[in-house]
Amino acid sequence: MRIEGKTAVITGATGGIGSATARLFLDEGANLVLTGRSVDKLNQLHAELGKPDNALLCVVDALDEAAVKASIDQCLSAFGRLDIIFANAGTEGVVQPLEAYSVEDFNQTLLVNVTGVWLYLKHGVPVMRDQGGGAIVAVASGAGVVGFPGLCPYAASKHAVCGMVKTACIENAQHGVRINALAPGPIDNRMMQSLGLQSNPDDPDAFRDMVMSSNPMGRYGTSEEIAKLALFLGSEESSYCNGGVYLADGGFTAA
Ligand SMILES: NC(=O)c1ccc[n+]([C@@H]2O[C@H](COP(=O)([O-])OP(=O)(O)OC[C@H]3O[C@@H](n4cnc5c(N)ncnc54)[C@H](OP(=O)(O)O)[C@@H]3O)[C@@H](O)[C@H]2O)c1
Repeated sequence: MRIEGKTAVITGATGGIGSATARLFLDEGANLVLTGRSVDKLNQLHAELGKPDNALLCVVDALDEAAVKASIDQCLSAFGRLDIIFANAGTEGVVQPLEAYSVEDFNQTLLVNVTGVWLYLKHGVPVMRDQGGGAIVAVASGAGVVGFPGLCPYAASKHAVCGMVKTACIENAQHGVRINALAPGPIDNRMMQSLGLQSNPDDPDAFRDMVMSSNPMGRYGTSEEIAKLALFLGSEESSYCNGGVYLADGGFTAA
């Protein structure tokens, strides 16, 4: 019960990392607001979690500021506090050389991955400041630390998440709000499958083999391994961690 009685908002809860984090946070005693774009997926997740009374569902598109604020308001009215935000919703976007992007495709990835995270900082930070503290964990990526061919807007967006986190830390550390970036490497879920299919539609396994062979640990990570780092960064166990970029990538960016 490492976060017993704490209250967390988890965005992108319907995805691989989000759902694994929801499960772990519930097991560790937290009350949750789970956000996603699809009511059906949220209901399915809720059923998979055993329909807990202390996990509320909220439909939020990353770019809908009113919905972002409503999810935080829902958390406050149901549980009275907002201790942790796991700003995890994100998109891989389209995979192609940088000169092939349309402005629309380029901007869409930036909007979801950067503006979407910033909106949770914008509306979450003042609540946490007023209550005397809190922890925000924004999901970046290994591609927020190094480049990755075919992923220009994605890499730009995840580097931007790291820059926002550092700025938000400096502005808010004196108010007891800790803000860190969690940077996963390749994780065995839908997003890496999409990257494989987009990179090599005829043989997505070749992409997977290429990624695994360039990782010192020689494998993909799991969503559950990322959830454990989210728990650490969201809990008091990381009380001196602030403004950092925390990798869980099997050594991918070290190679
Ligand atoms: N998988 C990896 O290898 C990897 C590596 C590094 C970083 N990450 C990052 O980890 C985070 C979670 O990704 P994942 O691996 O769990 O992939 P995922 O299974 O595709 O989950 C992505 C989540 O983000 C939500 N989302 C996407 N676009 C959205 C939008 N416009 N508004 C609101 N929500 C939106 C999705 O909602 P729907 O269910 O409605 O689609 C889903 O819940 C992302 O930020 C991703 O960039 C992943």
